[in-house]
Amino acid sequence: ATRWPGLITAYADRVAIPAGARIVTLQEGGTPLLPAPALSARVGADVHLKIEGANPTGSFKDRGMTVAVTWALADGARAVICASTGNTSASAAAYAARAGLECAVLIPEGKIAAGKLAQAVAYGAKILQVQGNFDDCLELARKTAAAVDGIALVNSVNPVRIEGQKTAAFEICDVLGKAPDVHLLPVGNAGNITAYWKGYREYAADGVTTSTPRMFGFQAAGAAPLVLGHPVRDPETIATAIRIGEPASWNGAVEARDSSGGLIDAVTDEEILAAYKLLATTEGVFVEPASAASVAGLLKTAADGRLPKGATVVCTVTGHGLKDPQTALESMTAPVIVPVSAEAVARALEIG
Ligand code: F0G
Repeated sequence: ATRWPGLITAYADRVAIPAGARIVTLQEGGTPLLPAPALSARVGADVHLKIEGANPTGSFKDRGMTVAVTWALADGARAVICASTGNTSASAAAYAARAGLECAVLIPEGKIAAGKLAQAVAYGAKILQVQGNFDDCLELARKTAAAVDGIALVNSVNPVRIEGQKTAAFEICDVLGKAPDVHLLPVGNAGNITAYWKGYREYAADGVTTSTPRMFGFQAAGAAPLVLGHPVRDPETIATAIRIGEPASWNGAVEARDSSGGLIDAVTDEEILAAYKLLATTEGVFVEPASAASVAGLLKTAADGRLPKGATVVCTVTGHGLKDPQTALESMTAPVIVPVSAEAVARALEIG
């Protein structure tokens, strides 16, 4: 069997890197496109899940980071910097470690999930917890990268991040043998919806596919600037990954929505948590809360008739459930404590 080489090599003709560059890879990409029978039956469409939690650091960020860190190393940077709600920082820290670069991350104090913080710590990043939100962190990261020589900004405002992330659209078309009819995904800083749309358009422009999907993006109701049409000063949601009030790729998201005939809508934290539990308990797919926003959007648009019946549908689930163990433990049924007794076990399981 041949080994999956990582996405830069797999899509060498579509992802540009500097000539002769050392490719910094953890063999990211090549993630499962998993059929979702329970969801399909529920919504009357052929639903697939793009399992981005299967990437090396547990989120889709690895797709952009292999490209961004490959460029940073080739450009002679000694360090990378990013702002993050958690996943970007985990990914940047891992790829920087692999490349032998320093990594600085700016995260909103107290607002990133435990697993993500543990990753950045483990990979040896320099972590600054900023007393502000993600939008403040991004502004600080941009200013620092601009002011200091040799530090590369690896947020998705760096266009090479988008180049890496667009490969998820290629993988979906390669597996389905066509583009899906509808693609649903969570939206925070809006880099990913921008990237998918770019990937789908590229394949269609080159005749690899004959159509492009309608792009359906979903923000958390308490952090829905694209739905409201203006920035949100104090974004709030249980889905901390998408707790963002002023998306950097605002225009990219609007372009994806409008030119694909799609939509960007909001889902409440209650809808996100319901989708989160449904995914884990009926499909066996444990994702982090932000990722469940795509499935919450699937259920919402199926219920109100906006999701076409019988369509081929892909929901990207962006990050692994283990990223945020606390939300799982707080929102699911708590484990029962029993003494060392067969009788007590039988009673607790109601099989006595
Ligand atoms: N899902 C997860 C799990 C994320 O971590 C993010 C973004 C998104 C969805 C939204 O993607 O920003 O491209 O619209 N996380 C960034 C971070 C902001 O810092 O990890 P987007």
